[in-house]
Amino acid sequence: MTDKTPTYTGPERVFSGIQPTGNLHLGNYLGALKKFVDLQEAGSEGIYSVVNMHALTMPVAPRDLLDQTRQIAAAFLACGIDPDKSVIFPQSAVPEHAELAWVFNCVARMGWVERMTQFKDKAGKDAERASVGLFTYPVLMAADILLYKATHVPVGDDQKQHLELARDIAERFNRDYDVPDFFPVPEPLIQGPGARIMSLKDGTKKMSKSDPSELSRINLVDTAEDISRKIKKAKTDLLGDMPSDAEGLKGRPEVENLVGIYSALSGETVDSVLSQFGGQGFGVFKPALVDVTVAHLSPITARYREILADPAEIDRALASGVDRARAIAAPVMNDVRRIIGFWQA
Ligand code: TYM
Repeated sequence: MTDKTPTYTGPERVFSGIQPTGNLHLGNYLGALKKFVDLQEAGSEGIYSVVNMHALTMPVAPRDLLDQTRQIAAAFLACGIDPDKSVIFPQSAVPEHAELAWVFNCVARMGWVERMTQFKDKAGKDAERASVGLFTYPVLMAADILLYKATHVPVGDDQKQHLELARDIAERFNRDYDVPDFFPVPEPLIQGPGARIMSLKDGTKKMSKSDPSELSRINLVDTAEDISRKIKKAKTDLLGDMPSDAEGLKGRPEVENLVGIYSALSGETVDSVLSQFGGQGFGVFKPALVDVTVAHLSPITARYREILADPAEIDRALASGVDRARAIAAPVMNDVRRIIGFWQA
């Protein structure tokens, strides 16, 4: 450790990414997309990437990868990311991500990456057959963030461990190369009721694209009828009516999840939702939750469909994002090359 506490003085900048792998769901929206829009509206400088290089870590057909890249970009726009205020771009179009990831592969220690639980979850029992990319995936994620010297990273709770690795890599680089304030140590923005949305069928499992049950998640493309059916079929428990305070949610993960969704979508606190519905049955709460969810998502879904019908518009937004992302990334990568002693013309 240097005796000087690093005090990064560069501008505040937000970075986050979403993988183009299948349909976005309510967890992606509340854990990530909604926060991007809230930060944009609060005036933060935001850079949001469709991380298609991350998607390559699992098998994906080229045509699907390309289509899903445009779909995620369309979802960014539909949720309210304004390409004049924020940067949206596909990760692969800024080659500095791959270059910095290589440098970070040589900064991160095997032990740090081996601790990452997501690799174990995704690789399953046959880790020998997993791609090497899946293993070093969190290192690429650190490169995504630090290439823009991002200070804040809005993500869901499942990315917490990856963010810790990014912080370790930033500190280690700054220390090893004796450039104490070169990379900021990025702050995760995880708090709030949307940070961990659980499956509608099992309150102990997170809502996920890979869950085989469609009833487990609400997709951003779901119709009002789909949403209503899924919420009405959502698991609750036999422990009685809605509790009237947060203490009463203990040991009731399914109810806690539904209340969290209501709170995150309506902007009301959990306490205020419970004071409204405490003592009432799910026959009252669930229809109210359907109303809040449909009212919030249906304009987004309608815009999403409109935008998807105009791929040229999506491509224009992405192309302008690439230019702006590269304008930030290129000088940072140049500095990295100089710092680490790479020859440059
Ligand atoms: P990805 O594509 O799996 O998910 C995108 C975002 O959605 C959040 N999320 C959730 N939030 C709450 N509840 C859930 N059930 C839920 N499921 C998903 C994720 O936390 C994420 O914020 N590695 C990242 C992508 C990435 C990235 C980055 C993120 C690559 N580089 C740099 C931030 C910064 C991922 O696979 O997210």
